[in-house]
Amino acid sequence: MLRSLSPDTSAPAIAPLLASRQRDSVEILDQTRLPRHRVFVSLASAADAARAIATMQVRGAPLIGVTAAYGLALSLRTDPSDAGMHEAYSILLAARPTAINLRWALERVRATVAPLAAFARAEAAWDEADAIAAQDVANNRAIGEHGLTIIERLAARRSPVHVLTHCNAGALATLGWGTATAPIYLAQLAGIPVHVWVSETRPRLQGAKLTAWELRANGVPHTLIVDSAGAALMRQHRVDLVLVGADRVASNGDVCNKIGTYEKALAARDNGIAMYAAVPSSTIDWSLADGDAIPIEERGADEVIGSDDDAIAPAGTRVLNPAFDVTPGRLLTGIVTERGICSASAGGLATLFAPEIRQ
Ligand code: MRU
Repeated sequence: MLRSLSPDTSAPAIAPLLASRQRDSVEILDQTRLPRHRVFVSLASAADAARAIATMQVRGAPLIGVTAAYGLALSLRTDPSDAGMHEAYSILLAARPTAINLRWALERVRATVAPLAAFARAEAAWDEADAIAAQDVANNRAIGEHGLTIIERLAARRSPVHVLTHCNAGALATLGWGTATAPIYLAQLAGIPVHVWVSETRPRLQGAKLTAWELRANGVPHTLIVDSAGAALMRQHRVDLVLVGADRVASNGDVCNKIGTYEKALAARDNGIAMYAAVPSSTIDWSLADGDAIPIEERGADEVIGSDDDAIAPAGTRVLNPAFDVTPGRLLTGIVTERGICSASAGGLATLFAPEIRQ
């Protein structure tokens, strides 16, 4: 028996992760099979969860964090000892390096259960994973409401409002609403005409395969473009707003997101177009002074050139495949968080987050 983790019934009806009522597994929508196949895969251990994260069956910073939290809870069912917890934590943390939500969620679970007796740990860890999931939905809704004010302002001048997004910071990347997509879904619910330019997102095509899929499922008008078309559309005045997510934000407002985001920011700045990163506070890494210290995941050559008959480059071609880039905060109009909108700077973030939170 599975249960939806979203208490918000108006959220887009996409559930990338479902927890079992017996608390012995989670079902994940295998995102490597979309858009052709809607296949759910059962995860019953920390190793299963780590594999699903590393192979990107689940992806997107908030969803990675929640999956890891349940993975740790699952491991505590079989081994609630300190050593067992440490091992599961390490396996999960190593699954992907860039999204800070992974470490944030694991730390939350560990801090909750570490003071408890071994027999109580698994239940408490599961409760905490549930709480992280519920908080993600609420945070995204709040991000959506703040972001909606930006779309409303633009809608006073232009209809439909043309929003460009990159990768998938949508409902599939979270427990509900998405981050960059939350203002779009709320605009649609409010009857504001919106059209989304979906940047396909080489090499794994999260825009084409995932964002287009979920926008279509929710009836949001959209058009798929190749990544390199974004700047040209901006220059032709066909983009009103750029909205993206993030995998990690440094304390000075630098934003790390899917490779290609920086280029979008350069083009947006050159064309005077507003660009915001929509992020829950769990994506902010207060320990980093700036974005240069963010670890950038490098993935395999196969993602770029394909394999065998589908290869798009000669066999043996040397490939560099960085999965993320860093956009300096100065290039962004702002950051939309669940607490409100601020400039992408240390000072801006300080207006929303008190010093005791910024640690
Ligand atoms: O490599 P991915 O698909 O996990 O990358 C995802 C992104 O870059 C998203 O924009 C980011 O995680 C934000 S999800 C709300």
